[in-house]
Amino acid sequence: MEKLIIHGPKTLNGKVKISGAKNSAVALIPAALLSEKKVIIDNVPNISDLHKYYTILEELGVKITHLSNSKIQIDSSNIHNFEAISDNVKQFRASYYLLGTLLAKNGYVKVGLPGGCNIGERPIDQHILGFKKLGATVIIDSDNVTAKSDKLIGNEITFDVVSVGATINVMIAATKAIGITVLKNVAKEPHVVDVANFLNALGANIVGAGTDTITINGVNNLNNEVQYTVIPDQIEAGTFLVAGAISGGEIEILNCIPQDLECIISPLKSAGVNIQTFKDSIKVNSNNIFSPINIITEPHPGFPTDLQSQIGVLLSLSNGTSTLTEQIWESRFTYIDELNKMGANIIVNDKTAVFNGVNHLKGAKVKATDLRAGAALVIAGIIADGTTEITNINYIDRGYENIEDKFRKLGANIERVVE
Ligand code: EPU
Repeated sequence: MEKLIIHGPKTLNGKVKISGAKNSAVALIPAALLSEKKVIIDNVPNISDLHKYYTILEELGVKITHLSNSKIQIDSSNIHNFEAISDNVKQFRASYYLLGTLLAKNGYVKVGLPGGCNIGERPIDQHILGFKKLGATVIIDSDNVTAKSDKLIGNEITFDVVSVGATINVMIAATKAIGITVLKNVAKEPHVVDVANFLNALGANIVGAGTDTITINGVNNLNNEVQYTVIPDQIEAGTFLVAGAISGGEIEILNCIPQDLECIISPLKSAGVNIQTFKDSIKVNSNNIFSPINIITEPHPGFPTDLQSQIGVLLSLSNGTSTLTEQIWESRFTYIDELNKMGANIIVNDKTAVFNGVNHLKGAKVKATDLRAGAALVIAGIIADGTTEITNINYIDRGYENIEDKFRKLGANIERVVE
């Protein structure tokens, strides 16, 4: 078992380059199986969730060639297995994108029910609603989901809840359906737009991604030669923004999309953080005095749930009482017990956490309870007095590429050790 040991407090200074977006890559990579050609994808983050995805795809007969640290080639010409039911599949959530992809490609698919970070109930009823509306028969048993259809047919589908996964999955499934599919009440996250752009590059005909309605004109084949670059990770960039805000130095965040980060830039500015945006980079610093603010998580363009725990570290240091209300997931406050061990004063009342600001955090032995909780504890450890030891860091490795190297280059004293 590995853990992170962080000696603080340290001031962070310098430049950090953001990697490709996890939540885009976990959709683009399976979606590439729709292509008749080999597909090259660049700016792919080197994270454990993707390593797991490569193994799953290889189990299906897909050939993944690593052309460089961040570039892969996907060759699905010899895919022979349309039942993704191994233990690897069940270990992470985004394996559900194989449902939409292989249903569209092959007319039959069985996928193990997805697992993932422990952040609450994670139903897939909206994905299934979409596949059924396209004419598929969907059967769910205790372990697997099976979807079948001789030919998917375009339809108008209004989702009951705004879901990133359902929007992307049904959009993928509809790319080769007969006729027009109109998806309403869809998610508008940057990675939804990225997947639509990728599918269009392959040869699909999708308009409206990034708005409330997406229209897909079904095509027979996707056979363009494609080399596609994944967008930068909005959440990794937001994580470094918070770190820069609370560390007392100045960080320049390179390779990011500032307009996609307005959801976090705006509350940080309200708290008193100085932020300058450029074409594809952001500078952040502060005088370490933070006004209290109130935040509610919402689908994009609202404040993202995936940055809730990271901004929680800043709120725990604010000059007064702040609140964070989590509306997307039931169990995303598990990091709060850990931050309280580090000297924070936070009380959770159902969906709202109340942060009574303290002057300093202090090092402690803490555990990452999910991916973003882990990232929050890393930031907290860097600015806390003394030594912080973080266990369960496999969660962090699922979605952050070289987190300790990136923070070390900015001046953190952080090392990975084997227990
Ligand atoms: N929901 C349903 N039915 C569904 C699907 C979702 O009721 O069929 C509900 C969920 O229970 C939740 C809400 O809708 O309350 C939003 O869920 P969504 O489907 O948008 O989440 P997801 O697609 O499963 C992705 C990211 C999450 C991120 C959420 C919200 C991936 C692989 N995961 O999950 O990322 O929190 O969108 O933005 O893309 C993370 O990166 O740390 C992470 C958890």
